[in-house]
Order: sequence, then C-alpha cells, then structure tokens
Amino acid sequence: MAKSVAIVTGASQGIGRATAIRLAKDFEAIVLVARHRENLEETARYVHETGAESLIIDADIAAPGVPKVVIDQVMAKFGRIDALLNIAGAVPQIDLFEMTDDQWDQATELKLHGARRLTLAAWPALKASAGAVVMMSGNSAQVPKSGYAAVAAINAAIVALAKAFADRGIEDGVQVNSVMPGPVMTGRRRSFVQKWASANGMSDEEALIRFPQNAGISRFGEPEEIADLLAFLVSPSARWITGSALRMDGGEVKAV
Ligand SMILES: NC(=O)c1ccc[n+]([C@@H]2O[C@H](COP(=O)([O-])OP(=O)(O)OC[C@H]3O[C@@H](n4cnc5c(N)ncnc54)[C@H](OP(=O)(O)O)[C@@H]3O)[C@@H](O)[C@H]2O)c1
Repeated sequence: MAKSVAIVTGASQGIGRATAIRLAKDFEAIVLVARHRENLEETARYVHETGAESLIIDADIAAPGVPKVVIDQVMAKFGRIDALLNIAGAVPQIDLFEMTDDQWDQATELKLHGARRLTLAAWPALKASAGAVVMMSGNSAQVPKSGYAAVAAINAAIVALAKAFADRGIEDGVQVNSVMPGPVMTGRRRSFVQKWASANGMSDEEALIRFPQNAGISRFGEPEEIADLLAFLVSPSARWITGSALRMDGGEVKAV
C-alpha cells in the first residue's frame, strides 16, 4: 500500500500529463485517468522516472457510473486517496447560437458532472486522509463570449461547484479549490488557435504570434507552469487556501 496517492484526470496529454509528472515528485503513487491507454502509458513512463508508482485507468469520465468504478479501483489498489485533480475537459468552442442541446449535455457530463461524481465518490477517502481537491476551470469563466459560451458557462459552474465542496470540506477536513488558467499551449489550445486563424484569414504560424498579442499577454502559458500551481495547491504549504479560484493567465484578465 502506498503512503500518498494522487489521482489526475486528463493525464494522457496537455496540462493533466504535466501535472501527473510534476506530482510524481511529491506523491508516492499517481493514478492516471483518461480514455487513451497508450498515451497514459507514455505519461506513466515519465512518472516512473521520478520513482513514483502509477496506476493507469483508461475510462470515460463522462459516463455516469464510471467515476465510482475509478475510485473503487484506486481504493482496492492503494487503500487511500490524498489528492484528486479533476483536469479532464473537452468542451468545444461553438457559438452560443449554433451549439445543440446534445453538445451542451456531452460537455457538461464530462467536465462538470465527471468532476462532481469523482469528488463525491472519493470524498470518504479524502475525509479520512484530510486530502485536497483541485478542479480545472478557466479564465473564460470571467469573460464569457458568444463564441465560447459553453466553455465559459461550464468553467463558471466549476468555480461554484468547487466552492460548494470547499464549504463541506471545512467541516470534513478536505481542501477544495479551482484554477482558472489563461491560454496554455496544449493540443486543445493549438486547435482553438487554428480555428481562430482560419476565422481571421491568417496562417497558423501568424496566429500563434497574433493570438497572445490579441489576448493582451506576452506569450502562451506552458502546461508545466499550471502543473506547478496545482502541485502547490495540494501541498501542505497551501493548506489554508480553500474555496478559492486561482487565476494563472499571464495577465490576460484585466478586470479587478
Ligand atoms: N489549454 C488551455 O489553454 C486551457 C485554458 C483553461 C482551461 N483549460 C482546461 O484544462 C483542462 C486540460 O486542458 P488541455 O488544454 O490540457 O486539454 P487537452 O490537451 O485536450 O487534454 C484534455 C484531457 O482530457 C481527457 N479527456 C477528454 N475527454 C475525456 C473523457 N470523456 N473521459 C476521460 N478523460 C477525458 C483527454 O484524454 P483522452 O482523450 O485520452 O480521454 C486529455 O487527457 C481542460 O479541462 C481545459 O478546459 C485549458
């Protein structure tokens, strides 16, 4: 049985993979959750380089019964959960006036309900370990636009959900926060920028330069920078931070 266990969803690529690799320095076992097993196996190889153990669970978090099965597997293998990082998300950028009910439902099932169901299923174990939860929101929660209404609305809901869990966590000894990154260079961001390039009649190369300028920032963020923030939030140093929504965006949001 491992002494400290962190679960990372969305660990097959992007911010989730960077977070799993970073957390391997602080936890003895990292549970890697996403749908694509081969990509999770690649993440696991990096995790092992730091000496941490891994458990790969290839699962679709959007399916209602799956989060409980994931947590049961973790408990059967390790018997404890110290940190849960809900990072998986694939909300499409579709205009408010074009997005269908089905598309809204699919996006909400994964990012909002997947995180909610996993946190509920893990709660008794988190309570037992005085553990920590982080939920992945995004800057768009604070600057909703019609072009990405679902991304913004679901991210705003994540902030509220994390705060509600944090409220119970005060009583139960579980710390819960959300994080709002700005534009971070991952596969997901690259496809957004490509879409933005074609909408604005420019090449992908030009868009990679113009997009940060247009967002009022000097550069894209790196997944490893978000991973460092998440590692801090589930570390003993951050114990009194709870119910917070932390922004890391290179200065993109200009409002107070
Ligand atoms: N990149 C940014 O600029 C940015 C900014 C703000 C917030 N965020 C948020 O940060 C999170 C990670 O973003 P990213 O840019 O790293 O995205 P990404 O590279 O596309 O990674 C998304 C992750 O979610 C997993 N995933 C997708 N659908 C899943 C499902 N049904 N069940 C389980 N896992 C699933 C994917 O793995 P599989 O495909 O293997 O399942 C992948 O590991 C997202 O929640 C995103 O909204 C990103």
